[in-house]
Amino acid sequence: MKKGFTVIFIILVVVLGYIVVHAITSPVKLSAAQLGAELIQSNKAGIDCFACHIIDGKGGTIGPDLSKEALLKHSIKWLEVQIQEPSKHFKPASMVKINGKTYMAIMPDHKMLSKKELFELASYLDGLR
Ligand code: HEC
Repeated sequence: MKKGFTVIFIILVVVLGYIVVHAITSPVKLSAAQLGAELIQSNKAGIDCFACHIIDGKGGTIGPDLSKEALLKHSIKWLEVQIQEPSKHFKPASMVKINGKTYMAIMPDHKMLSKKELFELASYLDGLR
C-alpha cells in the first residue's frame, strides 16, 4: 500500500515538474494583432504610419486617426489592400471623407511589406476600438 502511494507521488512530481518547466521555457506565442502592434511601433523600412496617422494620441494628422479603426468595420483583406496599395480604394490626390473629416488621398504604397506583415498590421488595426 505504502509503495503504491510512493509511486503515485513520484509520477505526480514528474508530471507537475514537466508542466512547470514547459511553461517557463516555451516562448510566449503572440497573436497576429499583438505582432502588428509591435511592428507598427518599430523602425522597420516601410513602417511610417505615425508620420500621418494618430493612434492613441500619438502621430500625425495628414491621414485619419486610426485609434478606432475597427468601428469602420473594414475586412482584414480591405485593410491589407489599403496598406499595400491605397490607390485601389481612393483615387490619388482626390478629396475623401473618412469618419466625417476630409483628407487628400496621398497615402503611399507599402509594397515592401511582406504578406505576413500586412496581415499583422491589418489584424492590429482591426482590433482598435
Ligand atoms: C504620407 C501619409 C501617410 C502614411 C505614411 C500612411 N498613411 Fe494611411 N492614410 C493616409 C491618408 C491621407 C489616408 C486617406 C485615404 C488614402 O490616402 O488612401 C489614409 C488612409 C488609411 C487607412 C484607411 C482608413 C479608413 O478606414 O478609411 C488605413 C487603414 C491606413 N491609412 C493605414 C496606414 C498604415 C497602417 C500605415 C503605415 C504602414 C499608413 N497608413 C501610412 C496617409 C498616410
